[in-house]
Amino acid sequence: ELKQLWTGCFQQSMNEFLQQFNESISVDEVLYREDIAGSIAHVTMLGERNIIDEQDKELIVKTLKDIEYDIEHGKVELKVELEDIHMNIESELIRRIGNVGRKLHTGRSRNDQVVLDLRLFTRRNIKALIKLLLDTVKQLTRLAQLHKHHIMPGFTHFQFAQPISLGHYLLAYASMFRRDIERLLDCRRRVNVNPLGSAALGGTTHPIDRYRTTELLHFDSPSGNSLDSISDRDFIIEFLSHCSITIMHLSRISEEFIIFMNPQFDYVSLPDSLLTGSSIMPQKKNPDILELIRGKTGRVYGNLFNMLTIMKSQPLAYNKDMQECKQPLVDSIETLNMCLTAFKLILDNVKFNTGRMYVSAGEGFSIATDIADYLAKKKIPFRSCHEIVGKIIKFCVQEAKPLDQLSLEELKAIHEDIGEDIFEILSVEKSVEHKDHVGATAPSQVQHSVDVFDNFVKDM
Ligand code: ARG
Repeated sequence: ELKQLWTGCFQQSMNEFLQQFNESISVDEVLYREDIAGSIAHVTMLGERNIIDEQDKELIVKTLKDIEYDIEHGKVELKVELEDIHMNIESELIRRIGNVGRKLHTGRSRNDQVVLDLRLFTRRNIKALIKLLLDTVKQLTRLAQLHKHHIMPGFTHFQFAQPISLGHYLLAYASMFRRDIERLLDCRRRVNVNPLGSAALGGTTHPIDRYRTTELLHFDSPSGNSLDSISDRDFIIEFLSHCSITIMHLSRISEEFIIFMNPQFDYVSLPDSLLTGSSIMPQKKNPDILELIRGKTGRVYGNLFNMLTIMKSQPLAYNKDMQECKQPLVDSIETLNMCLTAFKLILDNVKFNTGRMYVSAGEGFSIATDIADYLAKKKIPFRSCHEIVGKIIKFCVQEAKPLDQLSLEELKAIHEDIGEDIFEILSVEKSVEHKDHVGATAPSQVQHSVDVFDNFVKDM
């Protein structure tokens, strides 16, 4: 018995193993809402253009809505032999209303549907991801405000470099996630284009109205070239690139928190509810969640590379290779949603050990640059200042003394221009406070940035 809707010219039914191989329903089931929304818009337009009768249109729309409700409640059996969500829904429609249902596909192709659904799905998930990213920015901003006066060591080459405000550190990540949001918003403009009406590849002979379906589906415009619309998946590649950048950012902050949780640092702690134990070592509390976020970077990068490779040598227009585009898209969205949700729990519960951070911030001669700046302000060329401070450090190492314990005599012996006023800059507080220009780490600047981020969140 021939079950598929395309078997008119076939004499045999499809090989059963190959039906399994050919299917995409196990992945594209998640597109059912989009598929039905697309069909409703299409059939509404067909009715308005008198391509099908008004009553037929109404019956199809009503039945599609019923089917949507039933899928939502697990009452429609989705069949592998019907290949994908598009064929499953159309077959179900025909099963329910017979010949009227058979009119839905007038002037349309499954190729249309595939790309339409993927665009609608990407658009919906861009919105959801932006919401999660905004929550992240909000929470980082709140923490930054709370910790603008707390001082931590800043690193370069992962060695102590200069003291910075903990608030400034947190806003560095807020800045990254803000750009991620902006990238997604920009990407949305290219996603939000209506491919419907491209039909199989060259358009249709029916007098369809693509502006009407554009309006009904809230797209910005109809696409300009049907061949391109059917074959184009660069909107997914672009979106997956942005997903990759976002998870890279998440991975970096996760990595830092993992390091900062190590007792050697002890800058950060998490409650037990966000940690896991070891099956053999009774004493252990592990940051598995942060490690998983870091690890899932591999999937999301992999999905991007998967897409690029699937697309790289396909001739125009549709080829079945493109069925393979659905999985990396769905997987990256799901992964990123989970990672952002998990990371939100981390940010909601993280405690910063500001006492430990403060002690570290003074270690490793971290205010050396401030002394060089102090000398440069006395009109000594900066390169010479650098050298003089280098000598001071060498002296400190020999004498095993920190910078702020040197006496004026000791300092003067190294350079005569050093005066009493040097003690006004010899502290981590002063070091941070004096970096007081736009984008710098002084608490006043951190507060300014907090205000900027608050406004950004409010305007979104
Ligand atoms: N299941 C396929 C997909 O998801 C649909 C194939 C549509 N077109 C075709 N000519 N076979 O991409």
